[in-house]
Amino acid sequence: MALAPQTFGFFTPTVALMGVGCAAETGAQAKALGARHVFLCTDAGMVKLGIAAKVKAMIEASGLMVTVYDGAEPNPTDKNVHDGVTLYRTSGCDAIVSLGGGSAHDCAKGVGMVVGNGGNIRDYEGLDKTTRPMPPFLAVNTTAGTASEMTRFCIITNTDTHVKMALVDWRCTPNVAINDPLLMVEMPPALTAATGMDALTHAVEAYVSTIATPITDACALAAIRLIARWLRPAVANGGNIEARDKMAYAEYLAGMAFNNASLGYVHAMAHQLGGFYNLPHGVCNAVLLPEVCVFNLIACPERYAEIAVALGENTAGLSTIAAAEMAVAAIRRLARDVGIPRNLAQLGVKEGDLAVMAGNAKKDACQLTNPRLASHEQVVGMFKAALTA
Ligand SMILES: [Fe+2]
Repeated sequence: MALAPQTFGFFTPTVALMGVGCAAETGAQAKALGARHVFLCTDAGMVKLGIAAKVKAMIEASGLMVTVYDGAEPNPTDKNVHDGVTLYRTSGCDAIVSLGGGSAHDCAKGVGMVVGNGGNIRDYEGLDKTTRPMPPFLAVNTTAGTASEMTRFCIITNTDTHVKMALVDWRCTPNVAINDPLLMVEMPPALTAATGMDALTHAVEAYVSTIATPITDACALAAIRLIARWLRPAVANGGNIEARDKMAYAEYLAGMAFNNASLGYVHAMAHQLGGFYNLPHGVCNAVLLPEVCVFNLIACPERYAEIAVALGENTAGLSTIAAAEMAVAAIRRLARDVGIPRNLAQLGVKEGDLAVMAGNAKKDACQLTNPRLASHEQVVGMFKAALTA
């Protein structure tokens, strides 16, 4: 669905279920979409925690059959997708429910695209490459988060080249996105912190994106306010249902923002760290975000000043630049408070790899909407700043 540059399309699931206990509606929603036999795409962790069995029972309570596929690995691969496609076909499934975080949802998107269109998942790398719809697709989310349960983005690793393929396709947007805070209380503090900082990065990058609109701005600022207020208590006490609920809204709002305004250099660079070192996405974003903000500041200081206010800073009486700098300080403080590693060196990143990663980051589609153009040396400079911050 190509759009002229001056037009704006807003992509989002048809239905979003939010709030305590909403996952119990999964079976009824699937049934309403015509499902009889659900392919439940999840990961081994969800099975181990007993969450997969719980959600399977919820779906079966609506009179549907369920086949469980727990083969979605962290950073899911094309092999994970095709193993899933084989099971889907041999079991006679007719709808998909994904359960977990970004890996389960992305793997399910891949399965759905191949089931609906045939061929190999590698055929659909790029923008809007599928031509036929996926089966009915519901995404039950357990992190807050990547927002993959509600976006049109699907990241699958090519096992031959070890490159992460980006499949951006409006047809892989879930029909129903389900965010039940009761399914998020098991997230350990470090994962809560990393996924929460990922959501903050989505909101900040979307807010300063070159294709931001009044709609994405509203979503991004609301997300930033919620994260500033609720991420710390969610990390401090995983059983705090109010904090989990508010973080679920925050990550969904941030998803609405970046699904339509795209991202920037934080994600372009974090993708390289993920590919090179297999580091967690949220942690990479959290460490890179302040350094990319510092670089971007002169492009749109008024936007960063507004982010500072959304983060709860008092900017009264300050110049725009001084207020903008408070946003960076507030992000650093939040990352430190929730226990994010201080710099890339602590994550084992080597200075000798920065030049190659910078070259690849400049080719990443996410940097196309960054508010400031960056030379190769400037991207290396941002990596270096994050290396020893
Ligand atoms: Fe992200």
